[in-house]
Amino acid sequence: MVPEFSYRNGVLHAEGVSVEALAEQYGTPLYVYSRAHLIAQYRALHTALERINPQIYFAIKSNSNLAVIQTMAAQGAGADVVSGGELFRARKAGVAADKIVFAGVGKTEAEIDYALREGIHFFTVESEGELDRISSRAQALGCTGRIAIRVNPDVDPHTHKYTSTGKAENKFGVDLARAEKAYEQALHLPGLEVAGLHMHLGSPIMSPTPYAEALEKVQPLCAQLKREVSTFQYLDIGGGLGIAYRPDEAPLDPRDFAAAVLPTLHALDLHVGLEPGRFFTGNAGLLVTRVEYIKENPFKQFVIVDAAMNDLLRPPLYEAYHEIVAVVETPDRLQGDVVGPVCESGDFLAANRELPAVSPGGLLAVMSAGAYGFVMASNYNTRGRAAEIMVNGERAELVRARETWDDCVRGERIPDWTVTH
Ligand code: LLP
Repeated sequence: MVPEFSYRNGVLHAEGVSVEALAEQYGTPLYVYSRAHLIAQYRALHTALERINPQIYFAIKSNSNLAVIQTMAAQGAGADVVSGGELFRARKAGVAADKIVFAGVGKTEAEIDYALREGIHFFTVESEGELDRISSRAQALGCTGRIAIRVNPDVDPHTHKYTSTGKAENKFGVDLARAEKAYEQALHLPGLEVAGLHMHLGSPIMSPTPYAEALEKVQPLCAQLKREVSTFQYLDIGGGLGIAYRPDEAPLDPRDFAAAVLPTLHALDLHVGLEPGRFFTGNAGLLVTRVEYIKENPFKQFVIVDAAMNDLLRPPLYEAYHEIVAVVETPDRLQGDVVGPVCESGDFLAANRELPAVSPGGLLAVMSAGAYGFVMASNYNTRGRAAEIMVNGERAELVRARETWDDCVRGERIPDWTVTH
């Protein structure tokens, strides 16, 4: 458990605030974020790379609550966005447009127009077709589209197959072999400025080696572009920095990461950007849930809780491990699955686990839920999405209200012919 979450007199606290008291006040399921952890992680990474004064673009897909984005922006972070909606959020949270980079394989014309009008730092371009599209939209709007081509270095990041992006078979980026041609194309298209090169390998990456390997692969192209193109000044090395999900897991140490990437980055002498998300938000958040029932069948015990796959999709989607602890410490243990009320066998938060034995009415905390937790939540089974709280020392504030059933049906219309035959 990270230091911002700890037991005080046997009760789990987020910084100085009792998680039990938060659950009483705001109900469950409830996401709780520690502001101090967000800031500590930002500082640790920034300090490790200080020599090259990097620009950190916080990947807001990992947690796009406005209060979280603003906390990061106040530290100096920009934003890595992947949709018009995320760009809207970043701007709303006060991120300067020239500190925003925009990735994603399917940017629409409307999204490109919006980003051009806002004047973002650059587009991370994922295909030749996108170069054409940004060029023609920039011309139509009478402005310049700054671009960095996302080069796929074909390095295995050793992650789950759904979260690896930098291998040759993935849909992301342009192969290194094709990249030179894509840059040629960009240099000849009107309305574009070739600003840099981007790479992202996948996530979560627990070792610095894949980053070093990938950098070595893109270094010659970067050096060549820097020599030949005066506007080519930026290298964005992506995100994916791993965190500890298990108590016995060693997280990626920013100092080891820095030691692995700094020699190449220093030699290249470009402005360096990074775009981690989970590294800041993952262990900044937990999901509090109340036990409803304990059920046994001939094979196993089920702890049935009020949070479900619609609240935290990572366990069923990636078989991801999230540590589960009791909010009020107990020495008793049971063996079983933690499952939610959603009507799917895949609705589990933990499988075959030794767990704290908490009785119905008691509280559990699902740890490391700050990244890709709430943002991947849905209304499946017409379950309103959970409330979100941010803690700052002794203070706690609601940063997103729990969705009501009315919220769930808002926007739906019943045509007057649904009841005619
Ligand atoms: N940059 C790009 C271009 C990305 O695609 C991603 C993540 C990031 C940065 C940030 O990755 P991070 O530092 O947060 O690991 N839902 C999955 C993760 C999907 C990641 C998608 N792209 C999960 O829950 O593990």
